[in-house]
Amino acid sequence: MSSYVIPPDAGRGSSLTRFTHWPSDWSDSQHAQIVSSADGMVATTDRYASEVGLEVLRAGGNAVDTAVAVSFALAVVNPEAGNIGGGGFMLARSPDGSVASLDYRSKAPGAATREMFLGSGVDLGDRSVLGHLSVAVPGAVAGLWDSHRALGSLPWPDLLEPAVSLARGFRVSERFVASFPPHIVEGLLQFPESARVFLPRREDGEPAPPRIGDTFSQPDLARTLERIRDRGAGGFYGGKTADLFVKEMERGGGIVTRADLVDFTTAWRDPVRFEYQGHAVLSMPLSSSGGATLAMACNILSAFSLKDLPWHGAEHVHLLVEAWRRAYADRNHYLADPEFAEIPIELLISSQYGADRARTICMEEATLSSEVGPDDVTVSEFDGNGAHTTHISIVDPMGGAVSLTTTLNTWYGSKVVVTGAGFLLNNEMDDFTAMPGIKNFFGLIQGEVNSIEPGKRMLSAMTPTIVLTPGDDLFLVVGTPGGATITTTVLQVISNVIDYGMDLAEAVNAPRVHHQHLPDRVECEPGGLPEPVLEGLRALGHRVEGCKKEVWGDVQAILAQPDGSLSGISDPRRGGVTLGF
Ligand code: DON
Repeated sequence: MSSYVIPPDAGRGSSLTRFTHWPSDWSDSQHAQIVSSADGMVATTDRYASEVGLEVLRAGGNAVDTAVAVSFALAVVNPEAGNIGGGGFMLARSPDGSVASLDYRSKAPGAATREMFLGSGVDLGDRSVLGHLSVAVPGAVAGLWDSHRALGSLPWPDLLEPAVSLARGFRVSERFVASFPPHIVEGLLQFPESARVFLPRREDGEPAPPRIGDTFSQPDLARTLERIRDRGAGGFYGGKTADLFVKEMERGGGIVTRADLVDFTTAWRDPVRFEYQGHAVLSMPLSSSGGATLAMACNILSAFSLKDLPWHGAEHVHLLVEAWRRAYADRNHYLADPEFAEIPIELLISSQYGADRARTICMEEATLSSEVGPDDVTVSEFDGNGAHTTHISIVDPMGGAVSLTTTLNTWYGSKVVVTGAGFLLNNEMDDFTAMPGIKNFFGLIQGEVNSIEPGKRMLSAMTPTIVLTPGDDLFLVVGTPGGATITTTVLQVISNVIDYGMDLAEAVNAPRVHHQHLPDRVECEPGGLPEPVLEGLRALGHRVEGCKKEVWGDVQAILAQPDGSLSGISDPRRGGVTLGF
């Protein structure tokens, strides 16, 4: 049975009073809830999806089976991020200890061009984030199909059935209603089919999101999921679904063709692997920047003894920021789809490179971002709030684990629903460099190397990660949404546990900080850094003014305890649900 108590000795054991800079009124710390269980566990952003996962685990499914069923369920109950019209990354550890990673990131359509989003001057307008042109070829269904063929154990149709049934109707929760803030409603209203699906007309005739307690049905989506259930990936990339997809593109001026759908391929790649404080860390390789950026930052931090610095004191935050400044400068300059560019990845993620980078850090003074890495960029503001992606962490009773992050990019993606097929399309084209020196939605100023080319995958920040114990047993399964903040959030959870001995609830609930090279500003969650720490950072020369107005991330994490039991937590910032048995 699941239990919902915080064991006094969870994680590696600690007491918040040790963390002198933990804000006394940090509200999230009130909601820490570790779930403990003996055998299997699933952590997702949504109760329905976690229940589906638990059922699959109970039926003897392994972590990959569970990830497949949960991913399809999230496409129904968490449509702002869960998807079949987007793409993602899966890191899967088998019970024998081998770790595989599957890249099913979306690709640019064959007709895409380098300058397709350039209008006049630097104003890109919203065509790379809203509407049909922002849509990249979706990879989600191919990814789930290929991962299941390679590593799944239960019959494919059984894994689709829960999603089909949810699409026929589920009871609307508060969380679901909260995914329709006014700007999202406005975006969906621009596309009649999207409004028809998500904003059913009320008694007064006005289109509006479903209300708490309503039964929300998506019959077109149910039929699409049935086709995928019956025909596998062919039920999405061929037949009626593909016909409807292509018609939608023609209707709205999109450029994804039937050939793009048929030609889509996933890629199995070697995970990024590096050591941090005696732990092997396995994370996502290119076309996600996540694993490499995590490795670069951790390799820099390895040159210092974080545990000797008071947690979130100015020195600690300074060090994190300086490591991220350098890692993100390299990320933005060097990283892209490895099938389209020669990337010095082995060098970048080597401990030697990290040590060299670390020597350029001065503990007495912030380095200016303009002095780190490429300087042919304009500084712009970071405004990537209100976006969405979703992460799933799973451990099965056999000792297998999956860390999976998937996305439509921003909330409800392009806002375009495929007419008659009931699913949303991504707006992943915005993750390419539309123009060097100009920020994307997440404020990332990326390099020429990530420019648009037909068939290329746009660079991602998604960082599904698995950490092992010093004895190479499973230790931590972790990931989060959050655009550019994904990698820094994952690093902080890992470091909070390993360097500071926090239990998992503390590590996830702890206030977060962020820096991404440009803009040259330390971000912190509102109320996350006490004034004396901000003062200390200012004295070191950091810009801390104008931080983000909202908390960020939605970590799903599972920690294997030394006795073999599991502790899990869903980030209280968005209120997901971890279930175990
Ligand atoms: O792949 C990426 O890096 C982005 N498309 C992720 C977007 C995201 O995390 C939005 N969620 N908050």
